[in-house]
Amino acid sequence: MKNKVVIVGTGMVGMSYAYSMLNQGTCEELVLIDINKERALGEAIDLNHGLSFAPRKMKIYSGEYSDCKDAAIICITAGAIQVEGETRLDLLQKNTKIMKSIITEIKKSGFNGILLIASNPVDIMTYVAWKLSGYDKSKVIGSGTTLDSARLRYTLSERLDVNPKDINAYVMGEHGDSQFVAWSYALSGVQPIYQIASRKDSKISFEDLAQIEDEVKNIAYKIIECKNSTYYGIGMALTKITTAILENENSVLTVSSYLNGEYDNNDVYIAVPSIVNKDGVREVIHLPLEKNEKEKLDKSIAIMKENINTLNL
Ligand code: LAC
Repeated sequence: MKNKVVIVGTGMVGMSYAYSMLNQGTCEELVLIDINKERALGEAIDLNHGLSFAPRKMKIYSGEYSDCKDAAIICITAGAIQVEGETRLDLLQKNTKIMKSIITEIKKSGFNGILLIASNPVDIMTYVAWKLSGYDKSKVIGSGTTLDSARLRYTLSERLDVNPKDINAYVMGEHGDSQFVAWSYALSGVQPIYQIASRKDSKISFEDLAQIEDEVKNIAYKIIECKNSTYYGIGMALTKITTAILENENSVLTVSSYLNGEYDNNDVYIAVPSIVNKDGVREVIHLPLEKNEKEKLDKSIAIMKENINTLNL
């Protein structure tokens, strides 16, 4: 297996991810697959013209599913995107159909690396990809709330004047309207937020927390209203997940992971803090959630399961 990544779907999310990986030198080989072959070819040619400015060489080309066999990661970004007024769950039926056709092709290729799903509604699309592929549950991962956790860290860093990299805060649950912030974790121990937020001249009060949670949950709708779709943030989140796998980092990320008893739940993909390395999700971290947080997680999982039950997988 090579240090090779395949992207299925060369829309704005897929290409922001590709561009981010080129600039970070994330992999040695990058294959672009799209139902619109001309589009994939044009994107590959365009990316190659940036190679002399990139931190390391990268073999980039538009390809076919037969190029998946020796890949370390296949990232699926293909699918319809939200239009103004749509929720991510509104994409369920059409994107399940697209996912089914893609997984069929991937299975034919003999691929046995890590499947990284970004298509929305991502927690359910990850479940669909796992169910239809038959791959090991730890080797099928969704981008989950990795982006939402980054949005939360950005929002807090702006208020607290603390480097976002030093803010350990997690958004959990659905990458969508039922997500929530595990404040009990973010405000525990010697976290910078806790020390600063309790300071009387801090730019954040504990009362602000609910407002921040809401802002993070809904910011994608604002971006869609302004520029039709989101792509840079998710592109960099996918790059982070890819690096954690290719570099065997054992990083803690709120990816969509399969619950096999954790948080008293089973047979569902949902975003929880998970340790990500070369084998995919090494393990799910069981945070000691407060009662209200556990209730929010259970509600989010129930919504995922309800929607999964509408699909004849
Ligand atoms: C967003 C898309 C990736 O939240 O769902 O920006």
